[in-house]
This record gives sequence, structure tokens and C-alpha cells, in this order.
Amino acid sequence: MSERLVVIGSQWGDEGKGKITDYFACRADMVVRYQGGNNAGHTVAFDGNKYSLQSIPSGVFNPHTVNVMGNGMVVNPESVVAELQKLHDRGITDYQLFISDRAAMVMPWHSDLDGAYEAQKGGAKIGTTKKGIGPTYSDKYSRIGLRIGDLLDPEYFAERLKAALEVKNQELRMLGLKEYDFQEVYDRYMQLAGKIGHMITDTSALINEALRSSDKKILFEGAQGMMLCCDHGTYPFVTSSSPSASGVPVGAGVAPKWIDNVLGVAKAYCTRVGEGPFPTELFDERAHEIRERGHEYGTVTGRPRRVGWFDAVVARYTGMLAGIDNWALMLFDVLSGLDKVMICTGYECDGELLQAPPSTISRLARCKPVLIEMEGWKEDISGVRSYDELPEAAKAYVRKIEELTGIPVGIISVGPDRTQTITVSEKLKNF
Ligand code: GDP
Ligand code: IMO
Ligand code: MG
Repeated sequence: MSERLVVIGSQWGDEGKGKITDYFACRADMVVRYQGGNNAGHTVAFDGNKYSLQSIPSGVFNPHTVNVMGNGMVVNPESVVAELQKLHDRGITDYQLFISDRAAMVMPWHSDLDGAYEAQKGGAKIGTTKKGIGPTYSDKYSRIGLRIGDLLDPEYFAERLKAALEVKNQELRMLGLKEYDFQEVYDRYMQLAGKIGHMITDTSALINEALRSSDKKILFEGAQGMMLCCDHGTYPFVTSSSPSASGVPVGAGVAPKWIDNVLGVAKAYCTRVGEGPFPTELFDERAHEIRERGHEYGTVTGRPRRVGWFDAVVARYTGMLAGIDNWALMLFDVLSGLDKVMICTGYECDGELLQAPPSTISRLARCKPVLIEMEGWKEDISGVRSYDELPEAAKAYVRKIEELTGIPVGIISVGPDRTQTITVSEKLKNF
């Protein structure tokens, strides 16, 4: 029977999913992205090199791993071609990549609209990556979108493009934006089809075949993080997909019964890029220190990330929603050197003590974190390779997170490199 592992972000994104996916991809037969698009920025570091991936799965560095961009993604063919070119330029040429024929296709007007909607919102802007993710998902659900597989049938593609342009040019005109010419877009996308056409296929058939074969190891690589989930996150300051493990069945085209091993990737503190409430956010010198030590600047946009303490309210909530079996506790090395470290155990809001995030951001914005203080540790732990070698205060911090969330820490990451990884869980060691 196949073995599965779902790697998801459990905070506000950038938890280190790329690193963890790559770490397991060395042993995986297949890595599947199932939602989001090139709003993601997944960093992978090994052999002294660092790579940033946007829409291509993080298993691309292992020639034996089949990488799949699933139907639940929004795929920008222009950006896929550019990303592949960047990999080629750095000598990554031996990979296997397939793109779902059912994935929603990002069209040139989607990023224009993303920017325009943000500008309309003014002070209430979401702070999106402006990659056109929201507008592409909106068109998908409005049933006027194009799909990657359309590229394989030029006549059908032309028909769909004409229909979309009729609606979209009208909207662009109303917003005072540039309209698109059918022939120009058609020619450009046909050119792109020439470059990626051979990768486009029915990927759910591929994944299901792997799921049913014995000895196959299949990784599902989430993008973003659960607090950016369109349903369960800090709506409306969220992305337009479901980064949870529950996004896998629909976004990869597999039955829910295959989702039985979920690894929640969590920073040892919290970060957020873009707008929206963030209860444990720090504004003092400690934020600056953590940001600099953790190089907390956006992979995609370069924006400084907001920084705060580990939030066990969020961790319990996302742990419950996604059925997280283990934490991968990331960037643990970044906390070294702080005198005290804090963990948020609850929220105080309008005289009440809350154990879960409230549904509205207006209420969440009024939540004050209830913090416990723990001893910090001075030692540099980036060279530590076993749990036993960690300083006692660091071990106490790990145990406190387990106690507050009821979920074991299966992996501890002490640096960006593939080798700077401590696997504690026996099950994960054997994956
Ligand atoms: P992702 O979007 O979840 O894949 O995360 P990003 O790649 O956007 O951001 C994580 C950042 O932290 C990247 O720069 C990684 O190289 C880096 N990183 C990952 N794990 C560790 C770690 O344990 N320690 C340190 N210092 N950096 C890490
Ligand atoms: P990875 O996979 C962190 C944030 C944006 C914005 C909100 C909506 O690298 O963890 P969107 O462009 O998706 O409509 O933006 O979501 N966001 C991310 N933040 N990591 C990401 O991906 C993100 N993808 C989107 O900053 O606040
Ligand atoms: Mg990222």
C-alpha cells in the first residue's frame, strides 16, 4: 500500500513547507501541489545552494520524483515557463513535471484586476501578492475561466478565450484598465502551449494510480497557511483557496480516505506578510531581532514579514481543522539568544477568555494574547542534530508546545539547509 504525507502550513504561510517537502521528496515518488499558484514562495536549500519555487512542486530537485501541479491550483503558464528557465539556468534540468489539464489558468488580466481591486479597497486592502490569484479563482467559480487543458485544443481555446474576453474587457474598460486583444493573447498562449503542452495531462489519474500501488510514497505540498484559508482563516485577509489538508481531495482529485498523515509546518514563532489581524504581533526591538535573524522578508514580494510569538490558540485551531498528526517546528535556531520567549495560550476579548479565534476580524483585532513566559537559551543550536543535544530550555519550549496543542513535535528544524533537520517521530523517520 502507498504511504502518504500531507505537508501544510499551519500559520500565515512561509512556515518552511518548501524545506520540509524537499527533505521528504528525496524519498518520495511523487510530490503534488493541490492549491494556490505562484503566490507561494517555497525555499529549498542544499549543497550550499538556495532555490525559490513559486508554482512548481518542491520535489523538482530529485530526478526520481514525479512532480504534479494539481487541478486545484491556479496555473500561470508564463510564470511556469519562467520558473523552469530559472531552474535550467542553475543546472536543474533532470526533473519530472506534470500539470493538470483541469487546473484554472491565470490570464494576463487577472493580475491587472488583482491590483485594481486592491487599489479600490484603499486602506482596507488585503496586501495580496498581485499575481492574480483571487481573480483567477473568482473566474473559475463564476464559470468563465479558462483551464490549462484548453491549450491542447486550439479551436476550443479560441472559443473560450473569446467568451472570456467579452466579459473581461468590459470589466477592464469600466475600471479604466488596458483591454486585451484576442489575437495577441491567443498567439502568446499558443506559444506557451508549445513549451508546456507535453506536461499537461489528467493528473488525478496519475496520482490515483500511484496511491493504489504498493511501496509508493506520495507527498502533498500545501501552499500558504491555514490562517490564510478562505473558509477558516482571518477572512477577508486571506487567500482564495483552502491550504488545509481538506483541500487535498478536491485539489488533487483523490478520495478523502487517502489523507491519513498530516504534518503541520509551524514556525517556532509566527510571521505574517500582508494585512490583517495578528494577535501575538510584536512591535519592539525583539520583532526587529527575530526578523533579522530569521531573514523574515517575503520570498515573492520582498516585503518585511510581521513577527510575533508562537500562538497556541492558532495551533490548536489549525491542528483540529486539518487533523494535524505532528508538528514540524521550524526556524527554532532563530529563537536562540533571547532572554525570554513567550507563547500565547489564549485570547482575552471583551472580558472573555477565548480558546479559539473568533470568526470576525473586528473581534480578532480586539483580542489580547494571554502570554506565558519561558526561559530562553543562549546556545547556537544550528549545528544540533538530535533532540537530546538541545539545551534544556529549548526542550522545555518544545514540550510546552506539545502540551498546549496536544500534538507531538515530529520534526525540529534548526536551519534552512536540508541537513539541519531533526526528525523525532519514528513514523516520519520511516517515511
Ligand atoms: P514556505 O513558503 O513555507 O516554503 O517558507 P519560505 O521558504 O517562504 O520561508 C521560510 C524561510 O525560512 C526560507 O528562507 C527558508 O530558507 C528558511 N528556513 C526554513 N527552515 C529554517 C530553519 O529551521 N531555520 C532558519 N534559520 N531558516 C529556515
Ligand atoms: P507560501 O506558500 C505568505 C498572503 C498575501 C496576502 C494574502 C492574499 O509561500 O507560504 P493572494 O496573492 O494569495 O491573494 O494574497 O495571502 N499570501 C502569503 N503569505 N506565504 C504565502 O505562500 C502566501 N501566499 C499568499 O501576502 O496577505
Ligand atoms: Mg513562502
